[in-house]
Amino acid sequence: MIDFHNKSILITGGTGSFGNQFVRYLTESYSPKKIIIYSRDELKQFEMQQRFSQSCMRYFIGDVRDKERLKTAMKDVDYVVHAAALKQVPAAEYNPNECIKTNINGAQNVIDASIANNVSRVIALSTDKAANPVNLYGATKLASDKLFVAANNISGADGPRFSVVRYGNVVGSRGSVVPHYRKLLQEGEKQLPVTHPEMTRFWITLDEGVKFVVKSFSRMQGGEIFVPKIPSVRITDLVEAMSGSKDFKVIGIRPGEKLHEIMVPEEMAHHTVEFNDHFVIAPAITFFDKTLDYFKNRLDEKGAPAADKFEYHSGTNSQFLTVGELRNLDKATL
Ligand SMILES: NC(=O)c1ccc[n+]([C@@H]2O[C@H](COP(=O)([O-])OP(=O)(O)OC[C@H]3O[C@@H](n4cnc5c(N)ncnc54)[C@H](OP(=O)(O)O)[C@@H]3O)[C@@H](O)[C@H]2O)c1
Repeated sequence: MIDFHNKSILITGGTGSFGNQFVRYLTESYSPKKIIIYSRDELKQFEMQQRFSQSCMRYFIGDVRDKERLKTAMKDVDYVVHAAALKQVPAAEYNPNECIKTNINGAQNVIDASIANNVSRVIALSTDKAANPVNLYGATKLASDKLFVAANNISGADGPRFSVVRYGNVVGSRGSVVPHYRKLLQEGEKQLPVTHPEMTRFWITLDEGVKFVVKSFSRMQGGEIFVPKIPSVRITDLVEAMSGSKDFKVIGIRPGEKLHEIMVPEEMAHHTVEFNDHFVIAPAITFFDKTLDYFKNRLDEKGAPAADKFEYHSGTNSQFLTVGELRNLDKATL
């Protein structure tokens, strides 16, 4: 297992939901030499400093659109998690070029700065919306995934290794449905809004997401898209779990929204390897090292080819959380 003790870790977008939980995990489990938070807004950094003021913490103001700043920030860094993104679907539809500049150009800048500093391993966070994307946010994250996978060719045999972690809705993260519902209920709303009653989503807690990323650092050879096996949730079950009522009002699907999400498209089944608790989408291109075997990872765990026409789809998932499980999750995570 990768040991973060005495290592330097940089997190782009480190002030976000993922970044805060990741820093909590790192500081509680290891003694890192440095944890560098790289993001734009000084207020979010100030507030984070009130929570995390350990001597290993460094707060760098910077934009992932600024390659030179990233290169400076990554000096002597061992591991990078790229979490910075514009991720609100409607905002991306309305401001497409801003989303492209941050999510695509920013991704390439992270890659270039990592190579320039010979970082050891880099993980970029991706989303189920990047699989068969229908909105610009998802399309930019797919482009980012492709850049990170192909970056292993630019870095060559001795350079950084780049991999991607793709997962679904993070329970309670900023801008997500659970805090939205919670606020409406606190304001006295009796009927929660639902865009479509058949809607399903993949579901992961922040803690599970962080632990999966940490494990992926140990598993990665470079070029994988790691996808955890996680449950799905029916939106109507979430309404019942949070409000105590089966009643809801339908407000209609929003621009760029899907009824169900996909993490592994059927078209990628022949590149997909199934492990005990996750899938790996192996690269469709061949790398510098033609002997890389994605049926086995660096932890020596072994996988098997996914079934023909396999699709990892939130609507046909083998595991759904029940209303009771959601109630417990709701209490435990918020
Ligand atoms: N939350 C989810 O449900 C979910 C699900 C799947 C995947 N993901 C992915 O996981 C990653 C982290 O998500 P999250 O929930 O932690 O998001 P978040 O809470 O919105 O945090 C993202 C952070 O990125 C920073 N940022 C935005 N633009 C930036 C830029 N141009 N340069 C530098 N920093 C920038 C923001 O800080 P400043 O405003 O201060 O710059 C913000 O703190 C994202 O890549 C997202 O696509 C999230």
